[in-house]
Amino acid sequence: MARILITGSSGLLGLNLALEAMISHEVIGVDRAMLKSAPFQIINADLLVEGEVERILEQAKPDWLIHCAALADLDACEEAPDKARRLNTDLPGALAKTCHARGIRMVQISTDAVFDGTKSGVYTEEDEPRAVNVYSQTKLEAERAVLESDPDAIVARVNFYGWSLAGRRSLAEFFFNNLTKNKSMSGYTNVIFCPLHATHLAQTLLAMLRKGLHGLYHAVGPQAMSKYQFGVEIARKFNLHESEISPKSIQTSSLIARRANNLYLSTNKLCTDLGKPLPSFSTGLDLFYTQFQQGYPQKLKSFQQS
Ligand SMILES: NC(=O)c1ccc[n+]([C@@H]2O[C@H](COP(=O)([O-])OP(=O)(O)OC[C@H]3O[C@@H](n4cnc5c(N)ncnc54)[C@H](OP(=O)(O)O)[C@@H]3O)[C@@H](O)[C@H]2O)c1
Repeated sequence: MARILITGSSGLLGLNLALEAMISHEVIGVDRAMLKSAPFQIINADLLVEGEVERILEQAKPDWLIHCAALADLDACEEAPDKARRLNTDLPGALAKTCHARGIRMVQISTDAVFDGTKSGVYTEEDEPRAVNVYSQTKLEAERAVLESDPDAIVARVNFYGWSLAGRRSLAEFFFNNLTKNKSMSGYTNVIFCPLHATHLAQTLLAMLRKGLHGLYHAVGPQAMSKYQFGVEIARKFNLHESEISPKSIQTSSLIARRANNLYLSTNKLCTDLGKPLPSFSTGLDLFYTQFQQGYPQKLKSFQQS
């Protein structure tokens, strides 16, 4: 059993990860007072306040740190580039230095969006990343800062979906919420990605730590699809009306930050080093559906500070 500190424990990944990790480990979450009754220990901290990095690591004394906190809203990063840099680059860099000095194994959660999406095939860890917006630039700089300060760290480029604290953080919830209200919505046909269920990502990250892996890994779903197709899959799974989803090109959207079109990432390196395949998309979608049937979204909401 390891002692795991998880930053961003109120976020989409952090919360699902904390709930999965606590099955077999001791979990301590870092929170800015969004959680009122989480079933794991909490340290309250705003990580941008000077001295908090040292304080949380000293207080928690973890074996492993999984750093999920970030400014993960692409358009918000475009509007507040200084904040994005402090949170997405400077903070993980500082955490990596301290983890290295204290012998703590760190996982930095990066993103599939470090690529510009112009490649026609699959991206491997060997491909040169090229950022297309403030978010991806700050996350890319974080990858370099973390591995420079702590070569034993894991940098995981991820893409995931699942149920969240407020019920509207993930793309899957966007489609589900609109579909259940019979509201029409668009799905981008020319943005390709590899979604992995957040709980499957959590299990994968824990397996990587258990195996003692380090360095850069793609940790996304094994199946690539368009965002439109993803919405259709959600509609079919929940027996909702897929015709409410209109196929649309991202070029016609009013999004602020530029998005890459092709984020099809290979997970061969990860599967080889773990010695097993990642869960398939349909296994993840089944889990998303089963969690709904078992009241998991309500359970998460009950942790929320009112
Ligand atoms: N969502 C995706 O599909 C996706 C795709 C690729 C990569 N990623 C990466 O995955 C990681 C997790 O993303 P997510 O979607 O789970 O993010 P999220 O739901 O937006 O959660 C972000 C977390 O960071 C915390 N945080 C923000 N500022 C903080 C601060 N100053 N001090 C302490 N905590 C702070 C937030 O706390 P509050 O609740 O208090 O704001 C929240 O818990 C990020 O590194 C993101 O870049 C996400």
